[in-house]
Amino acid sequence: MSSLLIKNATLASGQIVNIFIKDGLIYDIGNKSPLCDQKIDAQGQSIIPGVIDPHVHFRVPGAEYKEDWQTGSKAAVAGGVTTVLDMPNNQPAITTQKTLDQKRRLIKNQSYVNYGLYLGATASNLNELKTVSGIAGVKVYLGSTTGDLLVTDYQIVEEILAETNQIIAFHSEDEECIKQFSIFPPRRRAGNFQFSNIAKRHNQLRPEECAEKSTGKIIELVKKTKKRAYICHVSGQKEIELIRQAKDQKLPIYAEASPHYLFLNTQSAIDLGNFAKVNPPIRSEVSQQALQLSLSSGLIDTIGSDHAPHTREEKEVDYAQAPAGVPGVETSLSLMLNLVNQGAITLARLVELMCSTPADIFKISKRGKIEPGYFADLVLVDLKLTYEVKNSKLYSKCGWSPFSGRHLKGVPMAVIVGGRLVYQKGKIFGPPGGCEVF
Ligand code: DOR
Ligand code: ZN
Ligand code: ZN
Repeated sequence: MSSLLIKNATLASGQIVNIFIKDGLIYDIGNKSPLCDQKIDAQGQSIIPGVIDPHVHFRVPGAEYKEDWQTGSKAAVAGGVTTVLDMPNNQPAITTQKTLDQKRRLIKNQSYVNYGLYLGATASNLNELKTVSGIAGVKVYLGSTTGDLLVTDYQIVEEILAETNQIIAFHSEDEECIKQFSIFPPRRRAGNFQFSNIAKRHNQLRPEECAEKSTGKIIELVKKTKKRAYICHVSGQKEIELIRQAKDQKLPIYAEASPHYLFLNTQSAIDLGNFAKVNPPIRSEVSQQALQLSLSSGLIDTIGSDHAPHTREEKEVDYAQAPAGVPGVETSLSLMLNLVNQGAITLARLVELMCSTPADIFKISKRGKIEPGYFADLVLVDLKLTYEVKNSKLYSKCGWSPFSGRHLKGVPMAVIVGGRLVYQKGKIFGPPGGCEVF
């Protein structure tokens, strides 16, 4: 295989180094300048490990018209993401070894980034969950959302935790609570049901207390079973407080934040209409700020984009008919780099949230850090460059972003996957060479 030298790159620690890559692995970090096949001068740029996004929906199989694996993984690499963990709410849902292997066959040779796949839990597939191998984790949907995966019986959730050895990732919204609010919606203020107020309306119909309820139950069950749980897309202030208490007790609970809860709120998202309809809903400004603060305090462990594309046509209908979900894999790193530039977190903390901690939690070996012997999944970023998010420039098949029009300071300039330069300055270089990481 080939060799690559990245010269004069600045690590998150501030140290300027040459990184020598051979046969897809990081071989040396220092000041050597050996002869090699390809050189990149990274003068003035920072280098971070490739982002590991533990939460995407690339829509294969069954909804390739929204996103297929090639477009999804191109969007990932353009956003500085080099490994994705893909959710099982496909058509058919991925709930058996057989459907998992079918999905694997469809993805093979299609991916520009590395990947892992989740298996979905149902009320009756415990045996599959116990015997399956090579997955990112088990996904449990406690509330209904896109697709038909749902487990509402907490007794079954307890069995899943107790009897499997995988990490269990939760979509944490309590189904009974959601139903209650849909039958008895809160008092409507005038104008609440107009297109412009969809973000608020959705938050009233699936309020924070539904997520608090299920997250509280998950914490109880983790206490009882001592098994590891990963709470996807934590969104509310009280939910964060529950996680603080669980972490104080040293329970193995991990919390993910998603960019749309960090960078949108019910007020700022008003003009987006259904393009901000997502489950759980976008929350109040108070919760948004609490979530941002918990990035540096350590209550949040990871950033998962929850990249959930739907077409414009699907979104441009009445509120009740529009599917929930927003794309995000292409913009998550830039949004977080922008936060670094605003002084809210350090670049080193960003690397923990987006690279090393996801690798630790999901036990992805030799990725998420820049160390000799690690896979050469790397991103060169220009922290001083500002760009505007533009729908027309996105690689995602859905062709829109809730962050369109934002000016973000901090841009991925070049992305290396397994020692190969796959993205540079807006261009993607094929063929797809990503591999499954589990
Ligand atoms: O809004 C959402 N969309 N929430 C989910 O949990 C699933 C996702 C999707 O797949 O569209
Ligand atoms: Zn979810
Ligand atoms: Zn999701």
